[in-house]
Amino acid sequence: MRKKIIAGNWKMYKDLTESAELLGGLKARAGEIPSGVTLVVCPPYTSLALAGATMKETPIKVGGQNMSEHDEGAFTGEISAKMLKSTGCEFVILGHSERRQYNGETNEGVNRKARKALAAGLRPIICVGETLAEREGGVTESVVGTQVRGCLDGLGDRMENVVVAYEPVWAIGTGKTATPAQAQEVHAFIRKTVEEMFGPSVAGNLVIQYGGSVKPDNSADLLGQKDIDGALVGGACLKADSFMQIAKSALR
Ligand code: 13P
Repeated sequence: MRKKIIAGNWKMYKDLTESAELLGGLKARAGEIPSGVTLVVCPPYTSLALAGATMKETPIKVGGQNMSEHDEGAFTGEISAKMLKSTGCEFVILGHSERRQYNGETNEGVNRKARKALAAGLRPIICVGETLAEREGGVTESVVGTQVRGCLDGLGDRMENVVVAYEPVWAIGTGKTATPAQAQEVHAFIRKTVEEMFGPSVAGNLVIQYGGSVKPDNSADLLGQKDIDGALVGGACLKADSFMQIAKSALR
C-alpha cells in the first residue's frame, strides 16, 4: 500500500518568530500522526534551518518550496539543493503553479530541477494542474499530460523518490475544491500517463497528492479516493490544529 504524504506549503507566510510557534505546536502533537502517514512542513527559506533543527528527533519531515537548477555559482537570490539538504530538508516542492505563473517556470526547467534534487538526495514534489480556462475548454488531460511527461522525462530509475501533486489552479486559495470524483479522475489519468512512461510498477508505487483548498472538513473524502495518496495543503497548514486534523483524516 502507498504511504500517504501530507505536505504543508507555507508559501510566503510566517517570519522566524511565527515559524517557531507553528513548528513547536506541530512538534508537540507529532505523536498524533497516524503510522501510515508522512507529514512534511515546507516553510519559507528563512525558517528552514529552524524547522530542520526543531523536527530532528520527530517523525515530521521538512521540505523547501523551490530550488535552483544549478549546483552553485553567481545566481543572486537562489538556493541550491545542497543548501536545502544542509538545513535538514528531505523534500522540495517544484513547479508550483504560483512559480509557473509569477516566475516563468516551465516543464523543462522543473525537469532539470527534479534531476538536481534527486541527485542531492531530495524527494521532489512535482506540481501539475490546469487553469479554469483550460478545464472549461476541455483540455485538462492534454495540459496535465504534457506537464507530467515534461516534468518526469527521464526520471524512470529514480521515480520511487518522486511525488506528484495535482493542484488544479482554479482550486488554489479560492475555497473551490475539486470534488473527490473530479480529483480522482485526474489522479487516475496521471497514474495512467506514468504507467505509459515507466510501466505499471512505477505507476502503482507513485504517491500522487491532491492540492487546492484542502481543509479538515473535505480532506477525508478526498483522501479516501483510490488514487489520492496525500495532500499538498496551503492555507489550512498554517495552524497546527487544522494541519493535524488533515493528517489524522488521511487514514480512516
Ligand atoms: P490552498 O490550500 O490555500 O488552496 O493552497 C493549495 C496550494 O497551493 C498548496 O501548494
